[in-house]
Amino acid sequence: MTPVNDLVSAALAARQHAHAPFSKFLVGAALEDSSGRVHSGCNVENATYGLTVCAERVAIFKAISEGVRVFRRIAVAADTDNLTPPCGACRQIIWEFCGDIEVILVNLGGKSETIRMKDLFPRPFDVSYL
Ligand code: THU
Repeated sequence: MTPVNDLVSAALAARQHAHAPFSKFLVGAALEDSSGRVHSGCNVENATYGLTVCAERVAIFKAISEGVRVFRRIAVAADTDNLTPPCGACRQIIWEFCGDIEVILVNLGGKSETIRMKDLFPRPFDVSYL
């Protein structure tokens, strides 16, 4: 298991790579897989705005594209006093690919909070309905 501080550091480091010229809102994510490997992501905006991809989904899609399928937890870093939670689209994707994992929210001041996905995203729609 990756020490939680290492996961938080990876999310903070990924945040530095955020491409957010429109919102200026930089976000980093670090996703730990079942072997302890960490997959990082940052938000990537574009001129249409709507095609923006959040840090969490970048991290998940990077991992999926490398054949990884089982995940333990994800850290999300942003520069807000009120800790930034994943958006609705990211909650759906985190749920579908990671299930009821821990989500560790952190800011630049060292504040953090850990929430389980089942609490962050109650009554999800998923493959069980199809
Ligand atoms: N954003 C993320 O990357 N993750 C979140 O959890 C919240 C929002 C990004 C999307 C957009 O680039 C910027 O933050 C402002 O919404």
